[in-house]
Amino acid sequence: MDRKLSPSMMCVDYMSLGKTLETFALQGISFLHMDVMDGRFVPNFALGTDFCRKIRKACTIPLDLHLMVERPEEKLDWFSPQEGEIVSVHWESTNHMQRLLTQIRGYGAKAFVALNPATPFTVLDYLLDVIDGVLVMTVNPGFAGQKLVPSTLRKITDLRAYLDTNGRKDCEIEVDGNVSFENIPKMRDAGANIFVGGTSSVFHSGATLGENIARIKELLQ
Ligand code: DX5
Ligand code: ZN
Repeated sequence: MDRKLSPSMMCVDYMSLGKTLETFALQGISFLHMDVMDGRFVPNFALGTDFCRKIRKACTIPLDLHLMVERPEEKLDWFSPQEGEIVSVHWESTNHMQRLLTQIRGYGAKAFVALNPATPFTVLDYLLDVIDGVLVMTVNPGFAGQKLVPSTLRKITDLRAYLDTNGRKDCEIEVDGNVSFENIPKMRDAGANIFVGGTSSVFHSGATLGENIARIKELLQ
């Protein structure tokens, strides 16, 4: 499966937003990861509907909407998911996951279930026909700049095997949280194929954006 990079837009330097988007477009970046936080599902607040709309207008890279909100089904319309975009919703955020995933696919978007570090992937048992991917949280969601939860690496390996043996070789695995230069090879070898790059890689200080992307691309080969 193709390995793709999805830079975490909550980590972008707003002073150079335009230039950053130009660089992403030139570099053929696959997705833009939008961390939406409601201050309830996770303690923090981040990116809202206006920001997402403005980014959609400013460039053609599909959004990768990571909804860390309670009852995302009530807010889905506000984000107007587009064909080819990813929408990830957390297992714990709704009482009606099957309906919600079907709703997301109804927009033409890819439906992903997001799993917190403590959430087992067996919750997917009766959802395998309505998902396009799984977002494995490799830190507890809510904040950039955290350290990897080590047991999540085993989860990626086991999840890949589970998807493959259950007829879903095509189902994508996205990883989010401390996707660093050091952790990318481990996540890649475990079977992840979409990588969210935040302060640990794409926006790592000490090198330019272009240098960081080049380094990541090499690790994703
Ligand atoms: C965590 C967020 C991540 C995070 C990734 O809740 O979903 O996108 O910002 O960035 P780093 O690399 O800082 O972990
Ligand atoms: Zn995220």
